[in-house]
Amino acid sequence: MSKYDDLFAATAPDDSPFIDKGVLDPLADPPEIHARKDQERELARLLNGVHDGYLPPTVAIYGPPGTGKTLTTRRVAREFAARTDAVAVEYVNLKECRTLFSAANEILAELTGEKKGAYEGLDGVFAGIWTALEDYPDWTVLILDEIDHIRHDANYDPNDFFYRLLRGEGKLKRGIDLSVWPVSNELLEVDLHLDSRVESAMSDEAVCFPPYGERELRVVLEPRLARAFRDGAVPDAVFEYGVREAARRWGDARKALRLFRQAGEHASECGRNWLTIDCIDATLGTTEKAATIEKLCDLPVNHFLVLTGSTAWNGADGIKQPVTTGEIHDYLHRDRHPEELQLGSRTIQTIVTDLETMGLVETWIESKGRGGRQKRIETTFDPQWVHEAVTEYATDSTYLEIVISR
Ligand SMILES: Nc1ncnc2c1ncn2[C@@H]1O[C@H](COP(=O)(O)OP(=O)(O)O)[C@@H](O)[C@H]1O
Ligand SMILES: [Mg+2]
Repeated sequence: MSKYDDLFAATAPDDSPFIDKGVLDPLADPPEIHARKDQERELARLLNGVHDGYLPPTVAIYGPPGTGKTLTTRRVAREFAARTDAVAVEYVNLKECRTLFSAANEILAELTGEKKGAYEGLDGVFAGIWTALEDYPDWTVLILDEIDHIRHDANYDPNDFFYRLLRGEGKLKRGIDLSVWPVSNELLEVDLHLDSRVESAMSDEAVCFPPYGERELRVVLEPRLARAFRDGAVPDAVFEYGVREAARRWGDARKALRLFRQAGEHASECGRNWLTIDCIDATLGTTEKAATIEKLCDLPVNHFLVLTGSTAWNGADGIKQPVTTGEIHDYLHRDRHPEELQLGSRTIQTIVTDLETMGLVETWIESKGRGGRQKRIETTFDPQWVHEAVTEYATDSTYLEIVISR
């Protein structure tokens, strides 16, 4: 051993539970896919159709986030193509595409490495796509990931986009065999309101990825954690607890990986090189908070205002909860609020009902003796989070900026 071996060993962090944290990065492809036997089998069966001279025009891949759609679909299709000369697979992620034109251009770029200018229009882009596919093997599988980010835009209708992709003239004329595999959180017909013309051009083939249950998350996570953490860093009871909570709350492998990574970071901040149930609980708390604040920031201004009004009063120990509609009203009518933000009682009531439907507040009626009955309103989460969301919300809202700067 050289003196440096000793030096590095002596200064290595010994308070870290990790040996390779990168393994927990959801973007790091795992060597093995676990717990998706049925889906892998179904995808393989569909691909094997080429040996009988048939690939379905579409195969809808759907299921909630973090259920292995991208990983499984990409891997099975690529492994098949690697063994079959007549098949090519192309993968395009449409997440960042704001328009149908840019989505088509993204497909073209994947095939040719080049994009068309806006002046060439959707026609120009599709012409480019068909020309490129002419030089492709007999069969092309086109995986269109996160296709639900595509929306109706000012210039094009998704129906038109899909119809071109499935029945485009250039495609039919050149006899191109294309199998389009849209990947989305929900079935596309439902999500994008596709019309019957497009629906009949699509096949009924669909592969569903349901949320992971406890048993499935366990087999997905076990080998990952074994590589990421040092021996003994995740005691069985902590592993079981984390898996159970992740399955109950999300059924999402991406979130489950993050849970254990953050719990490990928490342990290391506490100067420990192993995880405890408390590390999981602390992480679950902050995850919940981040998710709620994100939800609050997506609310319309009026809804957000009503929430600030229902968390604006001080009680004996911190923010007063529950409050009444009257108290919300009083807060919103204090003089620092611009007039257009002074909501009437009826509006406040309607919004409170909306917020209740969204699961952000709870309400109940309390009898006030002679004063009659009164509605009580309480947030379903720590009311302090509304205050913490204000700054983030205000940066996106000119209205709230006014209120805060006063
Ligand atoms: N069945 C699985 N086996 C191994 N890892 C998985 C599995 N499912 C999900 N993962 C992990 O979770 C991450 C997210 O999965 P992904 O396929 O991107 O989900 P989706 O596309 O459904 O949102 C993957 O990169 C992988 O690390
Ligand atoms: Mg995905």
